Amino acid sequence: MSDTQVRLTQMVTSAGCAAKIFPHILSEALKGIEWATNANVIVGFEGKDDAGVYKINDELALIHTTDFFTPVVDDPYLFGQIAAANALSDVYAMGGTPINALNILAFPQKEDLSILKEILKGGADKVKESGAVIIGGHSIDITNIVYGLAVTGTIKPENIKGNNTAKPGDKLILTKALGTGILNNVIKFSALDDKYYDQLISSMIRLNKNASECMVLFNANACTDVTGFGLAGHSMQMAQASGTVIRFYVNELPVLPGAEWAIGENYLTRGDKSNREYTKDFVVSSGNINKTKEHLLYDPQTSGGLLISVPEENANLLLLELHKRGDIFANIVGDVSDASDEYKPGTIVFDYN
Ligand code: CO
Ligand code: CO
Repeated sequence: MSDTQVRLTQMVTSAGCAAKIFPHILSEALKGIEWATNANVIVGFEGKDDAGVYKINDELALIHTTDFFTPVVDDPYLFGQIAAANALSDVYAMGGTPINALNILAFPQKEDLSILKEILKGGADKVKESGAVIIGGHSIDITNIVYGLAVTGTIKPENIKGNNTAKPGDKLILTKALGTGILNNVIKFSALDDKYYDQLISSMIRLNKNASECMVLFNANACTDVTGFGLAGHSMQMAQASGTVIRFYVNELPVLPGAEWAIGENYLTRGDKSNREYTKDFVVSSGNINKTKEHLLYDPQTSGGLLISVPEENANLLLLELHKRGDIFANIVGDVSDASDEYKPGTIVFDYN
């Protein structure tokens, strides 16, 4: 644990990607507004993809995304790194390369400014690791601490890995272990044992850069990152956008050490409930439901991994490459199939067998 005097997680009401506005409330607000578009908008609002993509010419498109949230951990330097890794992730989920970023910052200026400096240093170091540069930002003085980035990336238009191109027959690979939401909640309400804390932190500060390069190398068909809507929510968006059915082998899902313990201790986030609500019309369970594992499917992830839909013949090679480059929790966790009489398009099957 860190030894900062002020506990950052005590200064805010809800933390990380678990602080998202509930999806049904957000879609209500977005409804009825005419969002202007043009022929250069390759990826916009419609498919709930990770980032917007704007075509400059046949060789170049820009990927735009932003993510910011309140502290998930008490150490400001780690919080800065986590927020930056999380914001960069949506560029990686599209198969792109981040080139620059802007800081987004809210901070009560009466507080210790060394905290602010550490947050910004964490963000700066993580962006540097990605190869991108921070070229500006904006800050406001309010009572909550918020930090994140607006990120721009580049990609050749034909190489975009959307969430709408998962193909029947594909295997699904998840590159990071589940459980960050619930473990962050333990940090907020009590203390997390060192043996769990260290692996949680190293997972959240890890860039999805290698994972993204690997999925491009092995011709993935589709990709998204798993963040606030949990595995259930983000995979449902992928299945809906692709018009397919996604099946998860629940027992193959990677889980962070301590997450199942924390579920047993009832450290559930509010996202657990709202993600269930969000996905309830599309989730089907098969086999005997394991209640502990079920919570992991809805756990909102902060700086979660990539969910990669890859042709079956490349799945094992991709997995090997991911392990080799340090994504140690990566695993083949499911597959994609056609919709049927039994399962409508967009269905997520959680198979407990
Ligand atoms: Co995303
Ligand atoms: Co995002």
